[in-house]
This record gives sequence, C-alpha cells and structure tokens, in this order.
Amino acid sequence: MDRDRGRGGAIGRAVRRFEPRPRLVDWSILLLVAFELGSGLLSLTVGRPGGSAVFLLHGVAGLTLVFLLFYKLRRVRRLWDRATGLSVLTTAVALAALGSGVFWVFGGDVRILYWNALSAHVLFGLLLLPLVLVHAATRARPPRRVDFRGRRTALQYAGLLVGGALVWRAQQGVNRLLDTAGADRRFTGSKPVEGASFPVTSWVADDPDPIDPDKWRLRVGGLVDEPYELAPEDLDGADELRALLDCTSGWYTVQDWRGVLVGDLLDRAGADPAGAWVRFVSVTGYRWSLPLDEARDALLATRVGGEPLSHGHGAPLRLVAPGRRGFQWVKWVEAVEVRDRRDPAQWFVTLVSGFD
Ligand code: HEM
Repeated sequence: MDRDRGRGGAIGRAVRRFEPRPRLVDWSILLLVAFELGSGLLSLTVGRPGGSAVFLLHGVAGLTLVFLLFYKLRRVRRLWDRATGLSVLTTAVALAALGSGVFWVFGGDVRILYWNALSAHVLFGLLLLPLVLVHAATRARPPRRVDFRGRRTALQYAGLLVGGALVWRAQQGVNRLLDTAGADRRFTGSKPVEGASFPVTSWVADDPDPIDPDKWRLRVGGLVDEPYELAPEDLDGADELRALLDCTSGWYTVQDWRGVLVGDLLDRAGADPAGAWVRFVSVTGYRWSLPLDEARDALLATRVGGEPLSHGHGAPLRLVAPGRRGFQWVKWVEAVEVRDRRDPAQWFVTLVSGFD
C-alpha cells in the first residue's frame, strides 16, 4: 500500500515537473492543432517513402497533443458560462480526432456508408482548427515572454516532445507484437487490399455516365509539334506496368496495368522544348499535372489484371502514376496536354468537378 502511494507520488511529481505554464499549454495546443491540420493535408499528397517523415511528425505531434490536453483538462474546472458549450464541443472534437487517429493506426475501422475511421479522423481534424480558433478568441490570454523563457520551460517542452516520440515508437512496437490489422499498413497509413477486385473511389463528386467508346477520343496536344487524336482501339497497347495504387481513403493495392506509355504518345506528337509539365484531363474536367520526365514513365491504362477497365475504375482510359496518391491517377482521361507550367487550378477542380 505504501509502495503504491509512493509510485503515485512519483508519477504525480513527474506530471508536475513536466507541466508547462498554463499559457504555454494553451498556445502550444493551438500551434500543434494547426501543425496537425497542415501535416495531415500535406500527407494526402505523399506517396513515396522519401516523404514518410510527414507521417512520423504528424503522429508524434498528435501524441504530444495528448499530453498537452491532459494538462489543459486537469487545469480547467470552472463554472458554466456562455462560452463553455463551445469549449466542451472543442474538447470532444479534439478527443475524437486523436482517438480516431490512434484507432486507425491500431487497425480499427468502422463503416458508415462511404466513410471509414480514417475519413472520420480527417473530418474531425478539419473541424478542429476553426473550433480551437473560436475557442481561443473567447478565452485566450495573450502570451507573455516569461511563459516561454527559461531553461526549465525548454526542458519541459523537449520532455513532452520526447514523450510523444516514445509513445509513437511504443505504438509501432505494440502494433507489431499484437499483429493488429494496422500492423501491415504502409507508411501512409493505408491498409492492403488483395486480389483483382479493389474499391472504386473518387475524390469528392466525380461520377460521370459511362463513356460511349464510339464517341470518345483521346486528344494529345498543348505544346507539341503535331497534336492528334486517338480512338480506343489505338490505345489498347501492350505496355505493362505493375504499380501500387494508394488511396487517401486508407487502402492500397498492387495491380498489373496495361495500355500505352505516355512517353510514346508524347514522342509521336513531338513535345516542344518549352514543355515542362503534362496535364491529364478527365471528361469531368478533373485534372492533374505531372512533371514531364515523370509523366513520360506513366501509363495510360485500358486494362487492369488482364481485364478491360470497368467504368468505375476509369474506362476507357486511366492514368497510372506510380508513387502518386490515387486521386492523382486521373480517371476517364480525354486529353493529354504538354504545358510550360503546372496547372494552378487543379486543386480547386478536384474539389468541385462533378458538381453540376
Ligand atoms: C486533414 C487533416 C488530417 C489528415 C489528412 C490526417 C491524416 C492522418 C493519417 C493518414 C494518419 C495515420 C498515420 C499512420 O497510419 O501512421 C493519422 C494519424 C493520426 N492523426 Fe491525423 N490527420 C489529420 C488531422 C489530425 C488532427 C487535427 C489531429 C490532432 C488533433 C490528428 C492526430 C492524429 C493522431 C494522434 C494520429 C495517430 C498517430 C499514431 O498513433 O501514430 N490528425 N492522421
């Protein structure tokens, strides 16, 4: 019994030793939530292991936030006032964002219509920053120099970040040890889907009617010597590419794709020396650009796993862009255009194309 009390005392002392000043806790939470949103959004574009640090930092900062929230919540015991409802909502969304992130990492999932635990995590993450900002506007006290100064503060802060990193590391180990459904996720958090059938997903609202192959043509143009058009039968090529499709909704699959290499299409058109980017445009207006050299190695696929592409997977023609996330693999491609610069509107179009 005495020993238990002693342990509780030691934990209590450690908790107090690492507790930053209240204003530092508050402003750090705002900073880390902004960082989480930024790194979370950035992570959606990372498909190559070279960018895995984004996920590591996102995880470590998220778990550090757990400590800060702990300090914050043990401090706030106040009476109800006009802003308390918002504070409670902000706390609930913060816990939901943290909980759903950790739940997903440990292999947990729930499905509500099209949504899974990762989509819910992203939704809570998107909601959280505006809530924290409004909450801060109602409650925040301006930071003072004294809150941020001193060796003790630096050590406390370093201690919290190291704590976040250790929990992240431990989480990796426990995941492997227990062999959870999250143990074999990619560094992007995506989980494997085996076999020939894999989910049909689209970013936001792209959902065109099936394309009539007799009316459809692929246009190759832009900064080229000789623009031209191709019919579906001209594109049923023999170029093959085994590539990993990693969807931002949290799954990945390795498939054999067949079609024509973009480099061959460009060589036939004669790309202008001013060309630096290639833009792939869908019948829906959805589009994405790749740097010219990368685009040359990409494939425009008419088949996957030996079968013709289904409409949902982008028939008659879909971009296969290894190392890119799924939403960049444009479906229902109708134009390949060489350009001197990246298309600045492509992000906007991913959000609005498909809405009538
Ligand atoms: C648009 C916003 C966001 C996106 C796209 C996003 C994306 C992700 C992804 C893909 C993972 C899984 C990483 C993996 O499997 O290792 C993850 C985990 C996580 N996220 Fe987010 N996130 C977002 C916002 C947030 C916010 C605002 C918070 C904090 C409030 C947060 C906290 C976490 C935590 C704690 C984990 C678990 C880390 C771990 O245990 O390794 N995320 N997030």
